[in-house]
Amino acid sequence: MLRFWRKSTEELSATSGNLLIRRASERDAKGIIDCMQSVMDERIYLVSEYYLLTEKGEQNRIRNPDDLTLVCESAGRIIGVLTLQRSFHSKSRHTANLGIAIRSGYRHMGIGTAMIKRAILWSKEREIKKINLEVFSSNTNAINLYRKLGFIEEGRRRRQFIINGKYVDDVLMTYYTDEL
Ligand SMILES: CC(C)(COP(=O)(O)OP(=O)(O)OC[C@H]1O[C@@H](n2cnc3c(N)ncnc32)[C@H](O)[C@@H]1OP(=O)(O)O)[C@@H](O)C(=O)NCCC(=O)NCCS
Repeated sequence: MLRFWRKSTEELSATSGNLLIRRASERDAKGIIDCMQSVMDERIYLVSEYYLLTEKGEQNRIRNPDDLTLVCESAGRIIGVLTLQRSFHSKSRHTANLGIAIRSGYRHMGIGTAMIKRAILWSKEREIKKINLEVFSSNTNAINLYRKLGFIEEGRRRRQFIINGKYVDDVLMTYYTDEL
């Protein structure tokens, strides 16, 4: 089981055995790209098949104070990445988009749950009211986890994707940080 402790308002870490969840720093850029690309290579969970940011671009993103990037590392290797990107438009500053990817071989260990809980806490501290995400209707593992954490389905773009020859819906899910 992953255990949390709060070091400061800015930093919250969690450890379990040799797993560590922490905020990313610029030197994690390459590890983040490798981790994201390994999940994209599976071709069934994420829309993109190639990670588009360069190492420099990734470093710029990590530096952006509007974004939260969490990593999970195991023996110095990044095996999980969560990004939360706050909207820069004044009309939607209260919203942020969440993305998460855990490397194959490290799933169903509670890492995703711990990272998302951390992102929810960070959002609440910054008056972010809605955390949005998009997930394939075929990704039932992820959808079950999001529901368990309090995300609700807000909409669906039917037959938005074709994966392995089958239509897949784009499911739009949201977590309201204030209770509705
Ligand atoms: C979806 C994803 C982020 C979930 O992260 P995860 O670390 O696997 O999730 P968790 O381990 O926290 O929870 C997943 C399940 O494992 C269960 N679980 C948690 N800790 C566990 C443990 N110690 N032993 C066994 N099961 C456990 C959870 O209860 C949950 O069960 P459920 O599926 O019945 O709800 C991850 O699987 C992933 O990256 N998948 C590929 C990429 C992807 O789909 N990204 C999301 C695109 S929208």
